[in-house]
Amino acid sequence: SKKKLYIACIGAGYVGGPTMSVIAKHCPEIDVEVVDVNKDRINAWNDSNLDNLPVYEPGLKEVIQKARGRNLFFTTDVKGAIERADIIFISVNTPTKVYGEGKGMAADLKYVELCTRQIAKYSNGDKIVVEKSTLPVRTAESIRRILEAEDSKHSFTVLSNPEFLAEGTAIDDLENADRVLIGSDETPFGLSALEKISSIYEHWLPKERVLKTNVWSSELSKLTANAMLAQRVSSINAISALCEQTGADVAEISHAIGMDSRIGSKFLNASVGFGGSCFQKDILNLTYLCRYFNLPEVAEYWEQVVKMNDYQKNRFANNIIKTLFNTVSGKKISFLGWAFKKDTNDTRESAAIYVADKLLQDRAEIHVYDPKVNSEQVIQDLLYLQKYRFVNNHDFESLPEEEVRDLVKVYNDPYSALKDAHAIAILTEWDEFKSYNWQEIYDNMHKPAFVFDGRNILTRTMMSKIGFKYQGIGSAEL
Ligand code: NAD
Ligand code: UDX
Repeated sequence: SKKKLYIACIGAGYVGGPTMSVIAKHCPEIDVEVVDVNKDRINAWNDSNLDNLPVYEPGLKEVIQKARGRNLFFTTDVKGAIERADIIFISVNTPTKVYGEGKGMAADLKYVELCTRQIAKYSNGDKIVVEKSTLPVRTAESIRRILEAEDSKHSFTVLSNPEFLAEGTAIDDLENADRVLIGSDETPFGLSALEKISSIYEHWLPKERVLKTNVWSSELSKLTANAMLAQRVSSINAISALCEQTGADVAEISHAIGMDSRIGSKFLNASVGFGGSCFQKDILNLTYLCRYFNLPEVAEYWEQVVKMNDYQKNRFANNIIKTLFNTVSGKKISFLGWAFKKDTNDTRESAAIYVADKLLQDRAEIHVYDPKVNSEQVIQDLLYLQKYRFVNNHDFESLPEEEVRDLVKVYNDPYSALKDAHAIAILTEWDEFKSYNWQEIYDNMHKPAFVFDGRNILTRTMMSKIGFKYQGIGSAEL
């Protein structure tokens, strides 16, 4: 009989967890071990109460329930998992560097290098190493050199297989992927590894959706995809500013241009600004690479996408201050939403953090409700931004922790968060916000009752009828 295939995945985060769960679900004959150095995270993945999983994604619980303990395992045993594995996915975090050379721009590859060295140290046979993390183009070369230098006894094949899932729709994106991309070199080892990885995905995806390229194209496709997606958001956000000055409505423009099949209708929602752990980080990474390869014009072109996003977040916060008679000091500003988009508990780089930070400079009281984000997360996000604000080049003052804790309150119930507010700011497009009793909310607010809808989820007619002073993104009553 055929030898059983073993997969290890290093990094049990938003990518490693859901991706490996879906692989395990569809490949019952393969054993999948997801390892992490973070014990709390692994414990949460193993929690018998599926509401305590560390990642919230619609449909994730059901997949975990099916595969966990059968052929899907979460563990902190890095050594054992590497020993057992034929294929090792690297799915660790690759954040923007916050120190030294390339600070605020380059990808911090220390976690990738660390786990590469662990692979070399614990390998007891030949291994296929797969880059699942998003990495600068040519990282596979560095990984291969480290592996070969540290362990000359075994042979290693390094492939690139970037992940394209979006948070909030991760399970659906994995189950029905538009495509899976695998990059390998053209050696016999490379091509045989490519077939192995491809056959995993072919358990549930049609063969034609598995794209095979060279390693460098695969690595760079991931950065390019995110840069192009973010660029669409920044482009429509740029137009939203012009709409507010002219009486054009950005939603009507998105609809009109989106019907052009060359442009397409997706990713044209004007907003308070994009967030998430990927877009900004990956564009800064791309920008840094271009400068490294002495292509300053190309670097500047992409950097502008991030600058426009900073502008949009700032513009939203400044507009709140201006509209509230130029002062928010001591006023209660209630935030609906803190996550960077709906249907996720992830808050990394959420626009809400930047808007709150800006309003805190003016000593506003921020009262937050988000269906999936807890109080400590909100505070930690603000303190983290204060510490590393240089990444966005803001010349802001940092408040002492006690003052942040004093000015920011987080609620488990939306109506308490909104009571006695001077203004409401909608930062995330959670569906439940649309069905609130807006009349009751209006009755319990200070007047004029301002609503700043950073996601355009409510309608001006309905809100104005109740009596709100309503402002969406990219439309204004002139
Ligand atoms: P994450 O921070 O949620 O998870 C990474 C995990 O790796 C952490 O739990 C950390 O403890 C663990 N880790 C770090 N070093 C380790 C080591 N040496 N040994 C064992 N565990 C280690 O990150 P994420 O959001 O899952 O992203 C992972 C990668 O995937 C990044 O490169 C990211 O750019 C990319 N990516 C993310 C998304 C997304 O939507 N989040 C989508 C596509 C690609
Ligand atoms: C993104 C990519 O979509 C995904 O392919 C990649 O693997 C990881 O990065 P993610 O960041 O999880 O996924 O979510 P995404 O849906 O892309 O949204 C990113 C941000 O852009 C969110 O803050 C979202 O609210 C914002 N956005 C998106 C807009 O403001 N307008 C839009 O039209 C679309």
